[in-house]
Amino acid sequence: MDIALLLLVSATIFGLSHNAEGSPFSFREAAVRDIRIALDHNRLTSRELVEFYLKQIRGLNPVLNAVIEVNPDALCLADKADRDRRAKKPGSVTGLAGIPILLKDNIATKDKLNTTAGSCALLRSVVPQDAGVVKKLRRAGAIILGKASMTEWAAYRSPGVPNGWNARRGQGVNPYHKYATSCGSSTGSATSVAANMVAVTLGTETSGSILCPSSVNSVVGIKPTVGLTSRAGVVPISPRQDSVGPICRTVSDAVYVLDAIVGFDPDDAVATKKASKYIPRGGYLQFLKSDGLKGKRLGILRCSFVGFSNSSEALNAFEPHFHILRQRGAVLVDITETARFDSIVSSMFNDQFTAMRVEFKLALNAYLQQLITSPVRSLADVIVFNKKHTKLEKIEEYGQDNFEEAEKTNGIGRVERELLHNLTGASKIGFEKLMKDYKLDALVTPAPNIVYAISAGGYPGINVPAGYDTDGTPYGISFGGLKGSEAKLIEIAYDFEQATKIRKPPPLLRNHIKTYN
Ligand SMILES: *[C@@H]1O[C@H](CO)[C@@H](O)[C@H](O)[C@H]1NC(C)=O
Ligand SMILES: *[C@@H]1O[C@H](CO)[C@@H](O)[C@H](O)[C@H]1NC(C)=O
Ligand SMILES: *[C@@H]1O[C@H](CO)[C@@H](O)[C@H](O)[C@H]1NC(C)=O
Repeated sequence: MDIALLLLVSATIFGLSHNAEGSPFSFREAAVRDIRIALDHNRLTSRELVEFYLKQIRGLNPVLNAVIEVNPDALCLADKADRDRRAKKPGSVTGLAGIPILLKDNIATKDKLNTTAGSCALLRSVVPQDAGVVKKLRRAGAIILGKASMTEWAAYRSPGVPNGWNARRGQGVNPYHKYATSCGSSTGSATSVAANMVAVTLGTETSGSILCPSSVNSVVGIKPTVGLTSRAGVVPISPRQDSVGPICRTVSDAVYVLDAIVGFDPDDAVATKKASKYIPRGGYLQFLKSDGLKGKRLGILRCSFVGFSNSSEALNAFEPHFHILRQRGAVLVDITETARFDSIVSSMFNDQFTAMRVEFKLALNAYLQQLITSPVRSLADVIVFNKKHTKLEKIEEYGQDNFEEAEKTNGIGRVERELLHNLTGASKIGFEKLMKDYKLDALVTPAPNIVYAISAGGYPGINVPAGYDTDGTPYGISFGGLKGSEAKLIEIAYDFEQATKIRKPPPLLRNHIKTYN
């Protein structure tokens, strides 16, 4: 990796300048703010925007497998958005109104789209209503363009299921490098927005499923504090860890989406009520500050978390970035007593999967039972379905081990309660204590390694593009913080992004297309 060189050649393709009222609209990498301005000045219609993205999907999806379904009503919704905007005072329409969004296929919509988590077992299931976040998106005027592909069942079926693969759409492909992983499980969300097939997307994360695909697709992902966004109507893994968040090309775009989806939802009442105290008055856009890094204390762990490939190499590669963070006024704090933290985090990382087995069966059964109609009503039914459709679901190749393990569990008894109690305790004496002892605003890691520190405890994280390997595969940098620290993380990420502007669109996809034609 040659980060210094990459910084020199970093592309600055961020659409229009903000005062350019008269200039033509550029669809390439168009940012939400630019789309907003163009719509408001009648230089663009939502219909034109939807037509452009549909064309992109037609051209690229046969190669990338990033979109699982397109909304047959997308153009009608665009026309309605155009009519609604024209009927209002110019400039009075805000946020995501008239802007197309793709949703990961595990997020329910009550329309012509299926919600299947990539599995044929959920085809023809009928959801009772829109997911909580979808209700908020529709209220904000966003256009549901379709469903993004994903690792089947959010990568919970079996460790053998490849990242980005599902039985309905097949294998997702990284637009930067066809042999690189697209990571999972929000693969299609990250890939589609990276390849300019849509303006913005939603993904979900239980343990890395937003941050990891964002990292390898060179986009921005925000995994919110658990409960900041509603999980109602989302095919679940663990209500203790599941979170819905934006995957977009820029921090600013991700913040527009975050503002639209956060907040209380009666259908996920306990978690969203608890987390709604973190939402700042006036939303998150105010934290897109040019001096966001000034005075921030960022912790660097020069030790190997579980899963770090080789932390000293990774840290050397990140030296130029650490330099930029310091230049922008951040204080970088070397964490010295790492062994204790390391052992707590490793044991937590294993314990979370033990807990998930029990939680998954309960949560999935509850999801399946509230459907209006469905070919499967329980995890046991899904296992049987997969056994009946071994070819279609590639059961012999990829297995369904986690499903079978989860099916053997029997709810939350004494042992499980103790395990959950241990997990909560480990967060307090691990990550939270570290943050407090060193008075940190965030921890920083080569992406998506922050996941190991934040996933089991429900903490927030953000990924920002940080560079490209010699073969062109992107990688990110990630920041994680205490519950409710989204505002700080946005300040940090935005300032870093603006100081580096590393993201560049995928190279024309020539390699892919040659091979696949
Ligand atoms: C939903 O799935 C059904 C059954 O496969 C299919 O006929 C239909 O076209 C799908 N809907 C969309 C919007 O793709
Ligand atoms: C990591 O890399 C460093 C320097 O390249 C090397 O000295 C060290 O042995 C490596 N550690 C592991 C665990 O591979
Ligand atoms: C909880 O932690 C205690 C103390 O470390 C340990 O002895 C016990 O086995 C743990 N319980 C579970 C269910 O993992």
